[in-house]
Amino acid sequence: MHPESPYVHALRRRGFFKSTLSLAAAAAWASRADETVLQRPVFVADPFSLGVASGDPTADGFVIWTRLAPDPLQGGGMPKDPVAVGFLVSENDAFTRVVRQGTIVATPDWAHSVHVELEGLEPSRAYWYRFHAGEATSPVGRARTSPAPGDGASGLRFAFASCQHYEQGFYTAYAEMVADDPGVIVHLGDYIYEGAAKADAVRQHRGGKLASLDSYRDRHALYKTDKLLQAAHAHCPWIVTWDDHEFENNYADDIPARSELSRDAFLAQRAAAYQAYYEHMPLRRSSLPHGPLMQLYRRVSHGSLAEFFVLDTRQFRTDQPCGDGVKAPCEGVMDPAATLTGVEQERWLLDGFRGSTARWNVLAQQVMMARVDRAPGDEFTCSMDQWSGYEVQRRRVLRAFAERPDANGIVLTGDIHSHWANDLLVDEGTGAPKVVAAEFVGTSISSGGNGRAEPANHAVIMGENASVRFHSGQRGYVVCDLGPDRCETAYRVVDFVDRPGGRVSTAARFVVENGRPGLVEG
Ligand SMILES: [Fe+2]
Repeated sequence: MHPESPYVHALRRRGFFKSTLSLAAAAAWASRADETVLQRPVFVADPFSLGVASGDPTADGFVIWTRLAPDPLQGGGMPKDPVAVGFLVSENDAFTRVVRQGTIVATPDWAHSVHVELEGLEPSRAYWYRFHAGEATSPVGRARTSPAPGDGASGLRFAFASCQHYEQGFYTAYAEMVADDPGVIVHLGDYIYEGAAKADAVRQHRGGKLASLDSYRDRHALYKTDKLLQAAHAHCPWIVTWDDHEFENNYADDIPARSELSRDAFLAQRAAAYQAYYEHMPLRRSSLPHGPLMQLYRRVSHGSLAEFFVLDTRQFRTDQPCGDGVKAPCEGVMDPAATLTGVEQERWLLDGFRGSTARWNVLAQQVMMARVDRAPGDEFTCSMDQWSGYEVQRRRVLRAFAERPDANGIVLTGDIHSHWANDLLVDEGTGAPKVVAAEFVGTSISSGGNGRAEPANHAVIMGENASVRFHSGQRGYVVCDLGPDRCETAYRVVDFVDRPGGRVSTAARFVVENGRPGLVEG
């Protein structure tokens, strides 16, 4: 038995390790050339307890992910040695038409996670993949390559989700999402929550508020043990981005506004949170974190039908104005230097949007872009944590939409645990506002518990904001069918999440037509 782990017995062998390595793993391996790679570990418990995942599809590949964790909730249960992990990719689920196979080294530095980037596959087709370590075999995952560049004929069904507080509900929504058979699932953040365990929860976190790398790892692992979440990851590639709770509630860049930490300690904790996020997500090596920095904003193409601009509105943002919260706008809201994305990411987004030839240009991002009045009557209040707190930048993005109605800007949003369908307007308040894009805000998978179709603030929201066309406080997700001529969206809701077995129904449908910005009821 290996002295460091009761979960792994190992045959140790030295020598040349013949394998297919990613560049990152090769670099890690080079620096460990004098160390033993466990070729044939013997696991006492299933090392694939966290399932498998794929992500970021291209026309010729995708990334596949797993993490070895025979004791997932207490550090993983792996020895402090690198371990060989085999992978197979096949054209069928019986694995009789294998098109790629190889071995990669899972290192303890990255919590024995593996990220394999596949290339050279055929466009627009399904593949199945699985991993092996020792005698153990992982569950099978399915992925799909995107259409070839320029191919705009085929449609795409995708679903998007956010906010899956483990303590506040079951992941019933994911079961129904899988039944909807999306080709891609987009996750807009709050994949985990950082808070301490609560005794009265529907199901419980473990330990205190997250601070160390080990604690972030164990929390990700807890969430990933959910079988419905695992099934959704195995179903199709995911495109993921984070919001705040993967690190710290409502944080902005490196500002420890809500903690006692020094800036350095805050950044060290951010590095731990970002590393654990990378270790548990099907992300490419371009997102490998470097200390507290991680490149998460990126583009994902689906032929010429759709271009996803995946944003990161946390890592580079300036502090929330007016002391954060929902309030009447102070001067800081109109600060032209205030930014949710940072200067570089904004330039990347706007240049990319202006130059895009895709039929639909989809911003997959975190916080609401519509400027929503939260107060009844003549009073006006709005959220300082959303785009409405960064009004000058918000207008720059909306003007880019206005200049390219043929680019069909669509905004996907999470964060606020409620469904919204919003028309996005330029020149609000001038008497001649113009609809330039549609925003689909998806509710939470579980955060907030059961919820209600018409929560306490429903009447004010619908009464004060003509551009809000739909609002619901139930749990669920959103499905979008993109075709050459139309984008059809269904808002799915779950009747309860405080126990398993909730039923899912469609609460609203909207259509956006090609070249005609804004929502039409479907
Ligand atoms: Fe959330």
